[in-house]
Amino acid sequence: MKASLTEALGIEHPIIQGGMVWSAGAKLAAAVSEAGGLGLIGAGSMDSELLRDQIRKARRLTSKPVGVNLPLLYRHAEDNLKVILDEKVNIVFTSAGSPKKTTPVLKKGGATVFHVVATPTLALKCASAGVDGVVAEGFEAGGHNGHAELTTMVLLPQVKHALKNLDLFVVAAGGIASGAQMAAAMALGADGVQVGTRFAATVESSGHPAYKKALLEAGPTSTHLVIKKGIPVRLLENDFRRRIEEAEANGATRELLVEMLGAGRERLGMFEGDVHNGELEAGQVAGMINELRPAAEVVEELIKGFAKVVSEISSTKTLK
Ligand SMILES: Cc1cc2nc3c(=O)[nH]c(=O)nc-3n(C[C@H](O)[C@H](O)[C@H](O)COP(=O)(O)O)c2cc1C
Repeated sequence: MKASLTEALGIEHPIIQGGMVWSAGAKLAAAVSEAGGLGLIGAGSMDSELLRDQIRKARRLTSKPVGVNLPLLYRHAEDNLKVILDEKVNIVFTSAGSPKKTTPVLKKGGATVFHVVATPTLALKCASAGVDGVVAEGFEAGGHNGHAELTTMVLLPQVKHALKNLDLFVVAAGGIASGAQMAAAMALGADGVQVGTRFAATVESSGHPAYKKALLEAGPTSTHLVIKKGIPVRLLENDFRRRIEEAEANGATRELLVEMLGAGRERLGMFEGDVHNGELEAGQVAGMINELRPAAEVVEELIKGFAKVVSEISSTKTLK
């Protein structure tokens, strides 16, 4: 029988903190790992020097496993891959790009490799590339999304089905911020969950306080997916998001939209705290998050909530 996800990753709870540009530095990743989950350093907003520094910092903060998320289409991806190999990072979650070339390189370097997918077809391609597991991310998730508009609830069973004869882990992501949501994902066959937005609104997240405040103030319908035809990304409502929507409605080219959404906007919104003119990436679950908490409390709450719901469901009358 294959090892469980927790055994394979050397962690206590099947909770992964998703890599997040401008939010997931060493401090957050180490706090989640210390609490028994798996913290991922988000390399997407880091150059190679900063990434090396953050990997070493995380190792000083915790002796538990910490991984790195490497978005493959980002500017510094190639240099960051070298740092990951050089620093012998043994858990890597790749995303945003094809895993075909990087997976064998990372595996040769001794890493356990996961790739983020938005369709069952991509999950099968990941299997051919040799990954150890996939993260099935529904389009309710924060940040950049695939073009398919599959929600986690619908994507997950289809990814499970596509991989049914293969020995791969499936982690669910998108729309998970409570123990009940975690239980729903596990009920659909997930080996674990990857949580983003809930961890962006924690004490240890490196996001600007104004961005975290915007996350806490968000309501149930505060996020929207923009640039669906180009590079879809889920953002909190603000002036910048409205400008993007107007430009799209006025027929702006993909190039113009990509330029409007340039890397500088992510930094401006989430790291520098210009909540009007910057990009504020967030998942639909932002509407359920009302309190800034330490990451360890979030992990504990997820686990306790999960256990409570599982026990409640097992004792429901309809099952007797
Ligand atoms: C602020 C923010 C930044 C993100 N940046 C990245 C990233 O750099 N790389 C990546 O693979 N996913 C990124 N994501 C997605 C998360 O890793 C995670 O899969 C997703 O947030 C899960 O959905 P949730 O937001 O509903 O929890 C980001 C999400 C957020 C909220």
